[in-house]
Amino acid sequence: MSNYAIILAAGKGTRMKSDLPKVLHKVSGISMLEHVFRSVSALNPAQTVTIVGHQSEMVEEVLAGQTNFALQKEQLGTGHAVRMAEEVLGNLEGQTLVIAGDTPLITGESLKSLVDFHINHKNVATILTAEADNPFGYGRVVRNADGEVLKIVEQKDASDFEQQIKEINTGTYVFDNRRLFEALKEITTDNAQGEYYLTDVIGIFRQAGEKVGAYMLRNFEESLGVNDRYALSIAENVMRNRINKGHMLNGVTFQNPATTSIDIDVEIAGDVELEGQVTLRGKTKLETGVYVSAGSYLQDSHIGANSRITHSMIEESTIGQNVTVGPYAHIRPDSSLADEVHVGNFVEVKGSCLGAGTKAGHLTYIGNSEVGQNVNFGAGTITVNYDGQSKYGTTIGDGVFIGSNSTLVAPLTIGDHALLAAGSTITSDVPEDGLALGRSRQVNKDGYAVRFPHHPARKEN
Ligand code: UD1
Ligand code: CA
Repeated sequence: MSNYAIILAAGKGTRMKSDLPKVLHKVSGISMLEHVFRSVSALNPAQTVTIVGHQSEMVEEVLAGQTNFALQKEQLGTGHAVRMAEEVLGNLEGQTLVIAGDTPLITGESLKSLVDFHINHKNVATILTAEADNPFGYGRVVRNADGEVLKIVEQKDASDFEQQIKEINTGTYVFDNRRLFEALKEITTDNAQGEYYLTDVIGIFRQAGEKVGAYMLRNFEESLGVNDRYALSIAENVMRNRINKGHMLNGVTFQNPATTSIDIDVEIAGDVELEGQVTLRGKTKLETGVYVSAGSYLQDSHIGANSRITHSMIEESTIGQNVTVGPYAHIRPDSSLADEVHVGNFVEVKGSCLGAGTKAGHLTYIGNSEVGQNVNFGAGTITVNYDGQSKYGTTIGDGVFIGSNSTLVAPLTIGDHALLAAGSTITSDVPEDGLALGRSRQVNKDGYAVRFPHHPARKEN
């Protein structure tokens, strides 16, 4: 029998106090909804339906092409939301997982165990539950003296006795697909919140004498439902620990994992070492032997083997092997540094390629430039790539030596092995092997300094 899945993602998430729909808030770099979708994918569902409503277009965008969507125009409750999937799933034979889009920590493994449990026990409905130290806010699982599940009661509807129950509903269930949609026709809004509760179908099945069960998560952590930003920060923390532990077990050294934040899709090879206060975002990939020091922020970048990144920011760029970057360097989008490049303190590179062995040690801006191999940028070199309206490119050949404090006014081509004298303003192309002097000649006037107030000869008078 086939598996189907329904993801609930229509709510606004009032308690988030945000303009962004709740399920689009991110945990470790991707939205909560994507986390849930990835876990659900472990079941290989024949069909998935994501229920959207509040800011539906934004929500649909993150899963476009990967799921069916059903629109819940008014958010009348989780039971009403599931009903919206009837058109797609209504008559199908099989079991349907229902999961809330705000539970990003539930793993695919747990979902598989839940479905197996459901099938093995021949249940009509199985609730994924967890044992909470502080169950406040969650629906509680009410059982009879024999331990059989009777119903779920929401926090706001729970009696004093029911509020003592520690077994909570994670908001994830497996149902017999046909029976689910039949039972949904019977639910009412007769409760404290005046909503159609999905949770009421459990009591309905019980009363019809059908088999209902609960599968308890081994790890309570997974059950977290994110309703506010405090819970979001807890989710981030749990996910960070999970991701970091995975990398550690793959051979990555973390000097201070509590402060090292790595997005879920980052790839790290063995024998990489990360200091604390390191942030790796997006699809960043680090090859073996890379060392990243505290204060570094790398986004969507590829760092080649044995390169060393010190207290620097690198965005959407490609770094070769044995490269050293920083401290305090900024590699901006669309840059590439070939092997053995050195970019030192207060150097900014933007939209530029630097050939192998090229060095820019200090205080330099390289923008929209194609730079050859073994070029030496003196301190204070600036490519002048912008005239206030358009950007212009600079091409620098192999082995060029640029004296300190040179200004290269683009568009410009500097031939191989040319030498630019320190302090030059270069406005025209320089041929291969040429020397360019773009500065005024120095004049010395003998004895003139005596005329100025700084001079001891003046001060004595
Ligand atoms: C729900 C459960 C509760 C459980 C908790 C687990 C109900 C009635 N209660 O409560 O038993 O312990 O989850 O986290 O189901 N949504 C819609 N349309 C709606 C209402 C909600 O799509 O009309 C979506 C939300 O976007 C969210 C999910 O359903 O992703 C859960 O809704 P939420 O309001 O957070 O439910 P809880 O009060 O947390
Ligand atoms: Ca919730």
